[in-house]
Amino acid sequence: MEAGNDPWSEVLLAVRGFYARKDVAHDLSHALRVGAWVKKLAREEGVKSTTAELAALVHDIGRPGAAEPSHAGSGAALAESLLRKCGYSDGVVAEVKAAVAAHSREAGLEPRTEAAILLYDADKLDFVGPVGLARLFAYGSFRGWPLEGENSCESFYRERIRGYYANLGTEAGKRHFAPLLAYMEDFWQKFHTQGLKEEDFGNHIF
Ligand SMILES: [Fe+2]
Ligand SMILES: [Fe+2]
Repeated sequence: MEAGNDPWSEVLLAVRGFYARKDVAHDLSHALRVGAWVKKLAREEGVKSTTAELAALVHDIGRPGAAEPSHAGSGAALAESLLRKCGYSDGVVAEVKAAVAAHSREAGLEPRTEAAILLYDADKLDFVGPVGLARLFAYGSFRGWPLEGENSCESFYRERIRGYYANLGTEAGKRHFAPLLAYMEDFWQKFHTQGLKEEDFGNHIF
């Protein structure tokens, strides 16, 4: 760590570099919004959020250019070495590492600590509502998904995003999630009733 810089600023500087290489749905703005959700949920739940805020900042640094199932695991390892380098104590490093490792169910871990539960809920709240929709299409475009059908933006919504609610660990998280999910549900319903579909173009004989 350079003299004169506090550990938080050092981490922020480092993660800027990591997130600059990610897709738009998992950039620094996502990490900062997740941090804001962490703060909000902690306030509403009446718990401390310092460690969870730090975890929010680093939680997706393990994402490579392409999607990878174990990004939570690789992110936890990267976060550990980054935080150590920036001078954080063993206790804080261990807590952040555990939270990052459990922020995605892909790695098979359950969020169990207070910081892990806050981070999990905050991260999922950034995938619902208008922001969630924008991220869904940005991510879908990055992955090359069609809008609807198999392996599409819509199937990701139906198979993944809708299921997040059942795994949320805070009451505050559930309270905020429900109306934002309803917004997306409504969107997909309207999407399918807009009227003109590709099959309406029909066959042409020239
Ligand atoms: Fe993630
Ligand atoms: Fe995330």
